[in-house]
Amino acid sequence: MATGPKLTPFDNYRTATTVVQHETEEVLHRHIPKDGKPPALNKSAHMQFLVKHLVQGFPSRYTSQDASQPWLLFWILQAFSCLGVVLDPGNKQKAIDKIMLWQHPAGGFGGGPGQAAHLLTTYASVCSLAIVGRSGEGGGWDEIDRKAIYNFFLSLKQKDGSFLVAHHSEVDVRGVYCLLVVATLLDIITPELVAGTPEFIASCQTYEGGFSSASFPSYDTHNPGKILGGSPRPALGEAHGGYTFCALASWIMLQPYIKLSAAKPTINLKSLTRWLVQMQGVETELGGFKGRTNKLVDGCYSWWCGGAFGLLEALGVGGLENAKAVNEEVIDEEEEILKGLKVEAGDWVDVDDELFNSKALQEYILYAGQSPSGGLRDKPPKPADAYHTLYCLSGLSSAQHHVFPSKTKHEKLAEEWSSKNERQVDLLVSAEDKDLETALRREGIAAILSWGEDPVRASSAAHIVGGKDNRLNATHPITNLTITHTEGIAKWAYGL
Ligand code: FPP
Ligand code: ZN
Repeated sequence: MATGPKLTPFDNYRTATTVVQHETEEVLHRHIPKDGKPPALNKSAHMQFLVKHLVQGFPSRYTSQDASQPWLLFWILQAFSCLGVVLDPGNKQKAIDKIMLWQHPAGGFGGGPGQAAHLLTTYASVCSLAIVGRSGEGGGWDEIDRKAIYNFFLSLKQKDGSFLVAHHSEVDVRGVYCLLVVATLLDIITPELVAGTPEFIASCQTYEGGFSSASFPSYDTHNPGKILGGSPRPALGEAHGGYTFCALASWIMLQPYIKLSAAKPTINLKSLTRWLVQMQGVETELGGFKGRTNKLVDGCYSWWCGGAFGLLEALGVGGLENAKAVNEEVIDEEEEILKGLKVEAGDWVDVDDELFNSKALQEYILYAGQSPSGGLRDKPPKPADAYHTLYCLSGLSSAQHHVFPSKTKHEKLAEEWSSKNERQVDLLVSAEDKDLETALRREGIAAILSWGEDPVRASSAAHIVGGKDNRLNATHPITNLTITHTEGIAKWAYGL
């Protein structure tokens, strides 16, 4: 890496795409350090960037994000969690009180006080409460009106299994992801709520393998209330990393319901994996990820695309556990070798369990993603912002750690779960088969709570580019909260 890789040949047949690609490669090339020093994550500068925004407020260029106040808070709080920063009780309380002002009386959370409820801001609010909130008076959790959220979710449901993101708004797979995270964490997911949703998600997969924002429903022209099952339902638009993450995470949360569904919708894991692998930039792009074919690498896709590899593991693609199933002996041997290695910071140990180059991704974030004045960014010379700060850090964290669906954790959870576990919210669900409903709730929460960190990776700095000082906290592959915060709010909600 001393002189850097060769740029993509540029033949002067200029198009908008080739020009920006060339400019980007030139800029990235200049960010490869020539001194050979291990790259450092400037944690204190990033912390100061976040503190400044939390305490002094956002600069005026954020005015357009007035309806995204829960997002601004979530990006800061979760970036703190990645960095291992815990707010003091006073600031936590301020955050809780602020979030509760966003709750809409008719259910869900809006983008600011008095604003209409929206699926995306409901996710950002509930996840922020998972970080700073607690049970008991004034703690936020007990003031979440779960029944009203459930009714709000149902009111957005479309006949094809999709959801509007808000009343009078559009359908978007991001909304489905946000709804499913909230419904699963808060124990308000029901078969009625998600009927047809797996079919909708599957229909968003494009010919490239990634997922787009939505799909065209096939309505019966003589009976517009009826969706034509089995009819072509082509994906709407282009495969994109952001939508792909949301669709894949949704697909995993929906697993218990998919297993039961008569239609048995499927997704093409092979083309999805192939597409995701192709989204990683080559050496001249420093191994960052892009969000779609023929577009530019950008730090936020470190999470939306890089993080999606962790999700694939839940479906049996990639990862040491799955590789183990294929070749038990070889992998056991490698694990032993890895355990016995005296690895120095900066050494790289490849145990062949990776579908993408996580070392290169870390280099992109460390070399190009950090703004010298604090915070992280899309790419140089862009300024840092709160969104990119979080998703660069989450992506970096997922490239450092290996959080995988642990069978042991799953079994333990099933044991702990009492068959009498009653939902604490009365959702007026006509549960014909109460046992089935309980089993679905148990499986749904297990799909989220059974993720654990690989102890071999956790105990060594071998996979951390730049050494142990760059280590971040692990983040949950589905919720993008820490595992502790995910478990805290869910265990409260399920009365576990
Ligand atoms: C394209 O922007 C961006 C999109 C089409 C949407 C991206 C979606 C996400 C990032 C997922 C968000 C997830 C949640 C949960 C809210 P662009 O054209 O500026 O970028 P590009 O050139 O990189 O495609
Ligand atoms: Zn971005």
